[in-house]
Amino acid sequence: MTDDLFSTPEARAAQLREEIQHHNDLYYQKAAPEISDREFDALLAELVELEERYPDLRTPDSPTQRPGGAPQQGFTTVTHALPMLSIQNTYNAEELREWDARNRKSLGLGAGDTIEYVVELKIDGVAVNLRYEDGRFVLGATRGDGRQGDDITRNLRTIADIPGRIDVPGAARVLEVRGEVYFQRADFEALNEKRAAAGDEPFANPRNTAAGTLKLLDPSTVAARPLRMFAYAVGESDYPLPATHFEFLDALDALGFAVNKERRLCASIDEVIACTDEWEEKRRALPYDTDGLVVKVNRRDWQAELGATAKAPRALVAYKFSAEQGQSRLSAVEWNVGRTGVVTPVAIMEPVRLAGTTVRRATLHNMDELEYLGVRVGDSVLVEKGGDIIPKVVRVVESLRTGEETEIAVPAECPSCGSVLERKPLDPDEIERRHREIARREEKDDLDERTRFRLTRTLEPHLVCANAACPAQVIERIRHFAARNAMDIDGLAEKTIEKLTDAGLVTTIADLYALRKDALLELEGFKEKSAQNLIDGIEASKTRSLARFLFGLGIRHVGETGARDIARAFGTLDAVLAADAAALTNVDGVGDVVAASIVEFLAHPENRALIARLRELGVEPPPDESAAEREAHRDETFDGRIFVLTGELDAMTRTEAKAEIEKRGGKVTGSVSKKTGVVVAGENAGSKLAKARELGVETWDEAQFLAALERRLA
Ligand code: IVH
Repeated sequence: MTDDLFSTPEARAAQLREEIQHHNDLYYQKAAPEISDREFDALLAELVELEERYPDLRTPDSPTQRPGGAPQQGFTTVTHALPMLSIQNTYNAEELREWDARNRKSLGLGAGDTIEYVVELKIDGVAVNLRYEDGRFVLGATRGDGRQGDDITRNLRTIADIPGRIDVPGAARVLEVRGEVYFQRADFEALNEKRAAAGDEPFANPRNTAAGTLKLLDPSTVAARPLRMFAYAVGESDYPLPATHFEFLDALDALGFAVNKERRLCASIDEVIACTDEWEEKRRALPYDTDGLVVKVNRRDWQAELGATAKAPRALVAYKFSAEQGQSRLSAVEWNVGRTGVVTPVAIMEPVRLAGTTVRRATLHNMDELEYLGVRVGDSVLVEKGGDIIPKVVRVVESLRTGEETEIAVPAECPSCGSVLERKPLDPDEIERRHREIARREEKDDLDERTRFRLTRTLEPHLVCANAACPAQVIERIRHFAARNAMDIDGLAEKTIEKLTDAGLVTTIADLYALRKDALLELEGFKEKSAQNLIDGIEASKTRSLARFLFGLGIRHVGETGARDIARAFGTLDAVLAADAAALTNVDGVGDVVAASIVEFLAHPENRALIARLRELGVEPPPDESAAEREAHRDETFDGRIFVLTGELDAMTRTEAKAEIEKRGGKVTGSVSKKTGVVVAGENAGSKLAKARELGVETWDEAQFLAALERRLA
C-alpha cells in the first residue's frame, strides 16, 4: 500500500473499508483471523468516526452499515427471516458503565433507577439459527453475512444438543432459536489424537474446527465429531415468550435445548462489573473456550425499545476478556518475503505456552513496530495471543536486560534474491496528513504512545523487495494461486512448489499449466502416482470460478470477497479485463483503492501477457452464473427500485416475496421514504401504507404484485 493514497479522507475511508472487509473475510469465511478483535474494533471505530465527520463518505455497503462476511459456496443460501446482527464490544468497566448510562437515558430512567442485566458466557464457537415450524426442526443456517447464510440443516441434525422436535404452545407456529456450536476442549483433543494416530495433520483450535466441521458436505463425517450447542437467543417467533430474557433462557431449557448453566441475573451494572472480574480468572477452568461475556438487558420490552443500529442491538454488549500474555526470550529474527515483496520481521522465541498452544514464532509486523518496541536479540519479551490470532510481541521487559542483548541486524538485501531492500520516504502529503491527525487526536486527548510514534515516522513502515522475479515472491504467488480458497490445486503443497521453482520448471503461475509428467518424474520425490495426481489437480483447476481466478491472481487489496463481488458484477473474465476504474468502483463493495489496484495491475503488459498465456494453456474461468442468472431475471419493473413490504401476503411469505424482488434486481427496505419506489401492501397494512399515500409513493396490492412477478415468469 502506498501511503499517499491515504492523503484524503475519501482514500482513507476506502482503505479502511477494504482492510475491514479483508479481516471480515478472514474471520467469517476462512475462520482464520489475523488481528485481534480489539484491533479490528479500532479500524472500525476510525471508519465510523470518519463517516461521522464526512457523512458524504458513508456508502450503503460500508462495513459500518452491515456486519461482516458473505455466504460460502457449496450450500444453499438462505435469507434469515430476521437478520443475525453483531454485538458491540466493550473492554473495561468504564465502557460498561457508559453503555448502562446510555441505556438508562434512552429508556428515560431516573438517577435512582437501575436496569437488570443477564450475564452469560460468550462461547467461542459458531453462531447458528435453528428454525422450528409446528414444532419440527426444519432449517438450520450459519450466520453468513448476517442477512443470508448457508443452509446446514443436515449437519446440525447430527448434534445431540439440538432437539428435532419441540412443544408447540397453542396456535403458535414458528420459533427460531439462536445459539453457538462449539467443541469441548477435551473432545477436541481426543479428535486430534485420533487424527494423529491416523497420520493426519492436527486441527489448530476448537473454534475453527467447529466452523470447518459445519461446512463439511458429508453429514456422516460431521456426526462422527462431538459438536455441541448452547442456545441463547430468539429469532423470528410467534411463541408466547416470557417477559424477561432470564425466564426465556429457562424456557429454552424446558423446551429441550442446552442452555449454559453459568448464567447470572444482575440487579445493576455494578453487579455486572463484579461478575466480569470474577470470570477473568474463572474462565480458564471451563471445559470449553470463551472469549468474553455477553451482557443483556433482562426486560424484553426494554430490549425492543432500545432497538438496534444497522450492525448490532443496543440492548446487549460483549465484554471481551483481556488477551492472554506470556513471557519468552527472543532468540533471533527471521525476515519473511511476502508475495508482494513486503518483508516482515518474525520473532523466533523460546517456546512458551499460550492459550492452549505452544508458541515459538510471533510477528513483529514491520520496521515501525520494530523501532517502537526497541527490541534486541536476547530480550525477554511479552507475547500476546487472543483467540486464534497470530501471536505478537507486545513489549520488551526492560528490567530483565542483562547487557548481553544485541541489536537486530536489519538486512540490506533480500534474504531470498539478494536485491537491495527499499524503504521509501513517505510522501510529503502523507506526512502533512499525519500531522493533522496528531493535532486532531491531541485535541480529543486520544493519542497513545504507539499511535504517536507511528504518526511521526517519515519513512514507509515496510521494507520492500522490488524484484518481481524474487524466488520467495514467486513461491508465495504460486502458493496463493494454488491455495484452497483460490484455484484449489490438489497436490501442490509448499514443498512441491519449492521443488518446481528450484528446478526452474515454474517461474510464473502460467508455467504450472505447461508442466509435463515426464519432467515431474525426473524430480526427486515424484513417483508415477504423485506426478499424475499433480497433473490431474492442475488440470481440474482450469475451470475454477472467475471469483477464485481473480482472487488467485494476487492483486493487491483484492481479497476473496472483493474478487467475488467483481466476478458477480462483470460475469466474464473479458468483461473484467475491459473494465476501467469507474466501472470497477461501481461494483457494490469495491472502493477506490481496490479499483486503482486492479487498474494498475492490468496496466502492466506482463500481467496482461500472463493472463493471456494462462488462457492459451487452457485456463478459462466459466462465466459467473450469478451474473448470468441475475441478467436473465432482471426486470425493469423491479430493477434498481426500492420496495417496502407491508401487511400479510396470501401467496407467499415476506421472505419469499423479498427473494423474488431481489432476484429481479429490486431492493427491499423496512421503512417508507421519498426514495421508496413501490409499497406492496397485503392484508391489514397499516401505517406504512398510509405513509406511502401521504408521500405519493406508488402502491400495489397483492394481486398487482403477483401480476408484476408473473409478467416476467411467463
Ligand atoms: S447473543 C446480536 N449470547 O458472539 C447477537 N451471542 O461476537 C446476539 N456468542 O454473533 C447474540 N456466546 O455468535 C449471544 N451467550 C451468547 C453468546 C453469543 C457467543 C456469539 C454470537 C455472536 C458473537 C458476537
